[in-house]
Amino acid sequence: MEKKYYVIGNWKMNPGNLNEAKSTAKTLQRITPNSKYVETVICPPSVFLYTLQKEIKGKTKYGHQGIHHEPKGAFTTKISASMAASAGAKFGIIGHSEERREGVTDEMVSGSLKNCLKEGMTPVLCVGENERDQNGFYFNIIRQQIETALSNIPKTRYTDIIIAYEPVWAIGKDAKRPASANEFLEIKIYIQKVITDLSNRKTADEVSIIYGGSADDTNILPFLEAGAMGFLPGRASLEPEVFSKMVLEVIDFAKNEGSK
Ligand code: PGA
Repeated sequence: MEKKYYVIGNWKMNPGNLNEAKSTAKTLQRITPNSKYVETVICPPSVFLYTLQKEIKGKTKYGHQGIHHEPKGAFTTKISASMAASAGAKFGIIGHSEERREGVTDEMVSGSLKNCLKEGMTPVLCVGENERDQNGFYFNIIRQQIETALSNIPKTRYTDIIIAYEPVWAIGKDAKRPASANEFLEIKIYIQKVITDLSNRKTADEVSIIYGGSADDTNILPFLEAGAMGFLPGRASLEPEVFSKMVLEVIDFAKNEGSK
């Protein structure tokens, strides 16, 4: 089976109101190219999700930002996996650094991952270090994040999970720069090693590893060449033209790969 690429937009806490969200989603659905090679997804704020997926339909699917680690209960402000799925989410962004920053632990990420899979959504598990230290401790952080997240997941489900390498230092408008393709490649190989240690080489090869952190239409080609199976853009996903250019670039790359 041919592996799919993914371009998954994380709108974070944007845009500021439903009308704007509808208009952005409408343009994005209209201009984003569609191809068998690439799955496109947008993850709006949860209050907009149901309306957008109901009213603004197209080839781009919808996903949810964050899934709570408990299936239900007294957790004011939180959204469970079944709620997200019933509101139309097909994907769930799990363990994003902006959530981890607010106290979400690897153990919680593990619960969220399990719930997400149980409700039939594709989890996008975010991992990444805050900084790259000279001694290479960041490798341990990545290993710990993945091992704990997968600790309650049957090995047969590993390939249903997308892993997004998102170095925290490369995310957001204050980031100095995106990661380089070589930095991505190094971690991609390492993630595959961690998954091989937990299961086997074949499974590790089949897990889709994507990149996030200041990804846009000007910088993604080297990541594709380094084996990224897609991207998790934040800011770029709020600009339909930029998002659709990214998708186009991924399609072109995938087509070339397919014809090799
Ligand atoms: P950014 O965000 O593309 O705006 O850097 C990426 C992310 O946090 O997923």
